[in-house]
Amino acid sequence: MLDGSAEALMLRPLSKQQSEEKTVARQSTLYEPSRHSAQSYEDILASDLVPSPDFYREGENPPAELESYATSRYYDPAFFQKEVKYLWPKVWIWACREEEIPNVGDHMVFDIAGYSLLIIRSSDNEIKALHNSCLHRGRQIIECDGKGAKALRCPFHGMAWNLDGSLKFNPFAWDAPQWDEQETRLPEALVSTWGGFVFINMDLSAAPLEDTLGPIPDHFSRYDLENRYKAVHVSKKIRANWKASTEAFMETHHVVGTHPQGLAMTADSNTQYDHPSEYVGRQICAHAVQSPHISEELAQQDIFDAFFGSGQHDVDDESKLIVPDGMSARAYAAHVMRTQLSSITGEDYSHAGDAEFTDSLMYNVAPAMSFWAGFYQNIVYRFRPNGTDPETSIMDIVILRPVPKDGPRPDPVPIMHLDFDEPVTLAGATMGEGLAVVFEQDAVNLPWVQKGLRASRTGTVEFTHYQEMRLRLHHRLIDRLIEEGEAEK
Ligand code: FES
Ligand SMILES: [Fe+2]
Repeated sequence: MLDGSAEALMLRPLSKQQSEEKTVARQSTLYEPSRHSAQSYEDILASDLVPSPDFYREGENPPAELESYATSRYYDPAFFQKEVKYLWPKVWIWACREEEIPNVGDHMVFDIAGYSLLIIRSSDNEIKALHNSCLHRGRQIIECDGKGAKALRCPFHGMAWNLDGSLKFNPFAWDAPQWDEQETRLPEALVSTWGGFVFINMDLSAAPLEDTLGPIPDHFSRYDLENRYKAVHVSKKIRANWKASTEAFMETHHVVGTHPQGLAMTADSNTQYDHPSEYVGRQICAHAVQSPHISEELAQQDIFDAFFGSGQHDVDDESKLIVPDGMSARAYAAHVMRTQLSSITGEDYSHAGDAEFTDSLMYNVAPAMSFWAGFYQNIVYRFRPNGTDPETSIMDIVILRPVPKDGPRPDPVPIMHLDFDEPVTLAGATMGEGLAVVFEQDAVNLPWVQKGLRASRTGTVEFTHYQEMRLRLHHRLIDRLIEEGEAEK
């Protein structure tokens, strides 16, 4: 550290007045990034039998500045209104999968922070995102997802639009001369696609999606998300601000407290973080390696059994699999998963690295999306405010799986909507019981986070030095977008 004194590490709590006046309290001192004394992720990677691509290695990180953030950012309606006005209409976010709207007229309704967009395949080669609000008296035009629409008709007084948003019919045109001169098309948002996802951006002058995704299209070209199918989609309401929900999935410090059952096969303190671009931060956590929180050395067989016994990774073979002498649990787990995936897809994965089967390599795309790399299955998250409520949010969990070799391509699953008090374990049959338990542990925790944020006496949240660096950068980006929006007023 540049200054290792205990005093230098202490963060002074803000006074109540300060935390109300400032959305961010900055500590300007820079530190060398903290690292746990355990082996690094790169050490683990270096001992793999089959190496992974270079992009698994640690990339750039910005200077490690410590900052405290006001807890009010998670519940203050005034701060939330700034996000509604300057953040959500300015960013790229995925709205649905292309496979969900394969034919002309197929559509999905995507609601976010009080905005409603209709994502519709308007022709064979075009997808539109139309603001889902009638130009007459504002009724939401389309209420729910649907197939094969021929026109978009408002149920209130019957105005109708073509699929591309141009006006089709106005039953009271004789009484509405203003539309002889005013625009009659439905306003639209930008649309772009990557990896089979349809992204929207309400800012018509926004930079292209590629600028937000940074290195993702290049790195994910190995995993071909476009041709995978949506095998799981859970949309879960949570009683916590969208940032609290998002941030619960941006670090592995919480494994020891929230998911202790995973410690025997999760190298949590060894997790590697980096920031390839302003919008993209990465987290790479090794699995089939024991946690440094477990002081005694576990047998490789116990680690292997924990990896598959966690319920987060399926194994087809009912018989007990024995880690060969001299082989690590990690290498054998990768071998088992590689062989299993080959039997499903008929493809050869001998070139695919061990880490590409065992580890969670997650790309967070600000402000609220995550994509897991790797060959076996790809988990995708999306977080958003629940309507206009600062204190509740919606988490979408999608799992993309490779298409079996005997085809045909499975249809995308319908969305399973879970209300506040419905547990994620209701989705255990499709996502895997162990994985559902993990998500439920996170979901149960979050309302208590929200309650505690309101009750805080310091008025700040503290992010740790290295592992929670991305959370600080997340807040910095939110602040930048708000500051830019306010400056444009
Ligand atoms: S509100 Fe839509 S036609 Fe009147
Ligand atoms: Fe978690």
